[in-house]
Amino acid sequence: MPNNSSKRARTNFVHAGRSPHDNHGVVNPPVYHASTILQPSLDAFEKARTPDWKGYRYGRRGTPTTRAFEEAVANIYSAQGAVAVSSGLAAVTNSILACVKPGDHILMTDNVYGPARNFSTGFLTRFGIETTFFDPLIAGNIKNLFKKNTVAVYTESPGSQTFEVSDIPAIAAATHEIGATVLMDNTWASALYFDAFSKGVDIVIEAVTKYICGHSDVMMGIIVANNDWAMATREMAQVHGNVSGPDDLYLAQRGLRTMAVRMEQNQKNGIELAAWLEGRPEVKQVLHPALPSNPGHEIWKRDFSGASGLFSFILKENYQRAALAAMLDGLELYGMGASWGGFESLIIPASPKDYRTATDWDERGQVLRVHAGLEDIDDLIDDLGAGLDRLTDLSSV
Ligand SMILES: Cc1ncc(COP(=O)(O)O)c(C=O)c1O
Repeated sequence: MPNNSSKRARTNFVHAGRSPHDNHGVVNPPVYHASTILQPSLDAFEKARTPDWKGYRYGRRGTPTTRAFEEAVANIYSAQGAVAVSSGLAAVTNSILACVKPGDHILMTDNVYGPARNFSTGFLTRFGIETTFFDPLIAGNIKNLFKKNTVAVYTESPGSQTFEVSDIPAIAAATHEIGATVLMDNTWASALYFDAFSKGVDIVIEAVTKYICGHSDVMMGIIVANNDWAMATREMAQVHGNVSGPDDLYLAQRGLRTMAVRMEQNQKNGIELAAWLEGRPEVKQVLHPALPSNPGHEIWKRDFSGASGLFSFILKENYQRAALAAMLDGLELYGMGASWGGFESLIIPASPKDYRTATDWDERGQVLRVHAGLEDIDDLIDDLGAGLDRLTDLSSV
């Protein structure tokens, strides 16, 4: 595969991890369906069992389709390794497990994706690993939470419900002083808008399910790392037998090719929608990192080169359920369902209060999380505007 890491991110998204002239000139890497992979001789069979073997030996350990996608993402991040796993959550859990053993302590941001929190408070606790949650705006003061047995700090910035932006370089600098590891869920910004390794992150996680796939039809995660962490995270995924299927890997690497242009449109629509929502009388606050009122906005401006299409807004009051249902059920363009990062717009109610313990959430108003898709912005505004009108109409009855 050509190494394009000297090129700019947008170029790498198009070219990384594919070699058409090794594949009859066909532009996209082929899809290999494989469990058994035959070796031509006893010598080759034995060699394929040695630890530093770089070829193929069994479908679960990866095929050329797996490698094409993993090399593309590693190359985009200018990292030494990437391992594709079966979901974004599997990327979260496997990367944490690669860092911990019973008796260890980890720190996790309070605005973390809910199932990552549940994994720590449930599964890790059962195995004797303690988690302390921290204020996403803590920056270098994270040092006050370190214990003798702290081995890792898990970040997600911005948090995917409430969108506070963390000072990752400050958190990373403090964490490295005690020799601990920094993990980051970088799904929101991706490699396109946040250069995680240059900001001090050691292990990067992305839910491929979101923007990389981009079409709401694949479940997959990727863990990206350097040196020993590249090996350790791959081994952890292998120990669990965690693999991705060939057709999904193909769709994921195909998604990379158009990701930069898709995300530019998601970004543009998201920022326009957020700015428009700020002027609506029903809205108390819009939570979007690109808005000056957003907690951590200055950090976002300093460290990020763009925004995705995911943000939230808080309604002024807790409207009656019937009014909220009338607003949401009548929307034509916004689907109501989990996930984000596809071509389509989405809206769901969110409940930050249920998912934080280190910081307070005392907003009374309902939080709605929006994913701005690729539709025409005027149609998106018209549809959401009509929804907010229904909310007001029913509330005043
Ligand atoms: C920020 C973030 N990380 C990870 C995940 C998990 O990804 P998946 O749904 O592929 O398991 C999600 C899913 O919504 C997410 O929003």
